[in-house]
Amino acid sequence: MTGLLAGGQALMLESREALAEPPASGMVHRLDAKVMANVTRLKGKVAIVTGGGSGIGRAIAFACAREGAKVAVLGRRTDTLDAVVTEMAQSGADGTAVICDITRTNDVNKAIEDVERAFGYVNILVNNAGVLSVSTAETISEEEWDRVMATNLKGPFLMSRAVLPAFRRAGGGVIVNIGSVLGLIAMKDRAAYCASKGGLVLLTKAMALDHAHEKIRANCICPAIVETDLVKSLFAQSVEGQNARNARIATLPLGRFGKPTDVAELAVFLASEESSWITGTAIPVDGGLSAY
Ligand SMILES: NC(=O)c1ccc[n+]([C@@H]2O[C@H](COP(=O)([O-])OP(=O)(O)OC[C@H]3O[C@@H](n4cnc5c(N)ncnc54)[C@H](OP(=O)(O)O)[C@@H]3O)[C@@H](O)[C@H]2O)c1
Repeated sequence: MTGLLAGGQALMLESREALAEPPASGMVHRLDAKVMANVTRLKGKVAIVTGGGSGIGRAIAFACAREGAKVAVLGRRTDTLDAVVTEMAQSGADGTAVICDITRTNDVNKAIEDVERAFGYVNILVNNAGVLSVSTAETISEEEWDRVMATNLKGPFLMSRAVLPAFRRAGGGVIVNIGSVLGLIAMKDRAAYCASKGGLVLLTKAMALDHAHEKIRANCICPAIVETDLVKSLFAQSVEGQNARNARIATLPLGRFGKPTDVAELAVFLASEESSWITGTAIPVDGGLSAY
């Protein structure tokens, strides 16, 4: 695989680790792959990342910016979104923060309009925003069930539907959904979460079929546990918490939790032309968990 440096010089991606120069910007040090120069697989593209102010979405936003995209980060909290945009600007990248609750149709439609107006067009939608719920079908309240479904399934549906006209105006587009390995295999105490992420996998496949003829692709990334705010609450700061954490790590063949960059690098690939013949897939990024 090759990428292009800003000056057009070819960069062998396999040789990333061998590059000795220090990071040129604040963005590149986030890369687990130790990229030492910006590359341009998304040059000229405009990307929307929901939940771009924290965790996996934040890593995806920075990775898209590193690859040359203009990036709109969406969420409900101004402070986290603004911090991402400020850091992008310090690295010479173009970003914008858009307040949007993805469960609300009016917010969603306005957000897409705002991004298209600000950047001229939209090419990439990353439906990353999501919530976790630890519950069984018997113990979950109806309100909590609705909250999980609204955020993890209806939100991506609203965003994906709303972005289609902008994609058509741009001559095509790419949807990258952040599902979960729990949309492929089940786990105890995750009934609503599994149902929502399983629904997202099949929404991805259905939209991939419906819109392939318009040069619109849709794929779903299915991570196992990734160390972000979303999972911090799962393990208490105690001996028992540490034991539970170690037991969970032991279920992963590769012996560690995921990092946001593990997901972000696949999101860039799926958003780029390198994956132009890939649509309708659900790809585990799970340390080998689903190989059992
Ligand atoms: N971490 C894991 O182990 C893991 C594993 C598999 C899949 N995932 C998936 O990866 C995605 C990101 O998770 P994460 O771990 O990075 O979690 P996180 O740090 O808690 O981030 C979740 C993001 O979603 C946004 N969000 C939540 N509800 C929203 C709404 N109604 N409207 C707009 N934005 C909303 C939040 O921003 P605001 O609060 O500002 O709205 C936040 O930035 C989720 O879809 C999650 O299910 C995570």
